[in-house]
Amino acid sequence: MRSLIDISELTLDELDELIRTADDIIENPQKYAHACSGKKLATLFFEPSTRTRLSFEAAMYELGGSVLGFSESQSSSAAKGESVADTAKTVSCYADIIAMRHPKEGAPLVASLNASVPVINAGDGGHNHPTQTLADLLTIHREKGRFGDFTVGLCGDLKFGRTVHSLITALKRYSGVEFVLISPNELKLPDYIKESLKKEGIPFLETGDLEGVMPKLDILYMTRVQRERFFNEEDYLRLKDSYILTPEKLANAKNDLSILHPLPRVNEISVAIDDDPRACYFKQVLYGKYMRMALILKLLEVNV
Ligand code: NCD
Repeated sequence: MRSLIDISELTLDELDELIRTADDIIENPQKYAHACSGKKLATLFFEPSTRTRLSFEAAMYELGGSVLGFSESQSSSAAKGESVADTAKTVSCYADIIAMRHPKEGAPLVASLNASVPVINAGDGGHNHPTQTLADLLTIHREKGRFGDFTVGLCGDLKFGRTVHSLITALKRYSGVEFVLISPNELKLPDYIKESLKKEGIPFLETGDLEGVMPKLDILYMTRVQRERFFNEEDYLRLKDSYILTPEKLANAKNDLSILHPLPRVNEISVAIDDDPRACYFKQVLYGKYMRMALILKLLEVNV
């Protein structure tokens, strides 16, 4: 039995296989319509979510399975003081697979060590978000047709942005990837991730100047400043609008730039960009569902 807590647990071959499955689901959805019939997914969300929870639920329904769970910790026994370990043991009695989001880094790992069914990390604090990375990878693959030989700009809250941490962990394994890390000083990528890039000889550049680096980017990954992780509101208010992508700022961008954002967007991308052919963020939302379908099939060891 296998869980997915960190994106690095999947080999490059397995990532390829998930992408192939997602592409096939897009082409032949009816083939998969009963693949998980009789199986149940539990969504245990201790933090707010729109896309991740609903795409997991839609994914399981489209595989012919069913769903149970909660969308806020206050409606679970966590509000009475139950531990993550006991919650995982309990839910294992009712469901075949668990997707968990939690504000504490490592909580889904603890759940996986105590559950008797696979656990998927659906976001743990400011740490990791492997299934958003699956959505990002399918988007990049469908847009670019490859994973290597490009320059990726990651912009915004690189300190607390868990989607950024998981995406870098995945992309750094492909050859010819160069990272441009664009953030205010206070929201730079954590040292432990930069150290791993240095150690592995992967090129990266840190800057505060989005427009200055725009012409060299093949992919621009915008992110929201993670208000819920700040210690004080004043700092959040000062930093929240550090980067706002507008059509003017794209003046020097490549014609085949791909603009991604895990969403929700607050102010980081002007709605005037939504109709630009380079905007991929709503495709990313849809692709997230297909990659979660592929992942559920893999972890439940269902062959179609
Ligand atoms: C992200 C998250 O939860 O980390 N959202 C998502 O799952 N698509 C990004 C964010 O909340 O800013």
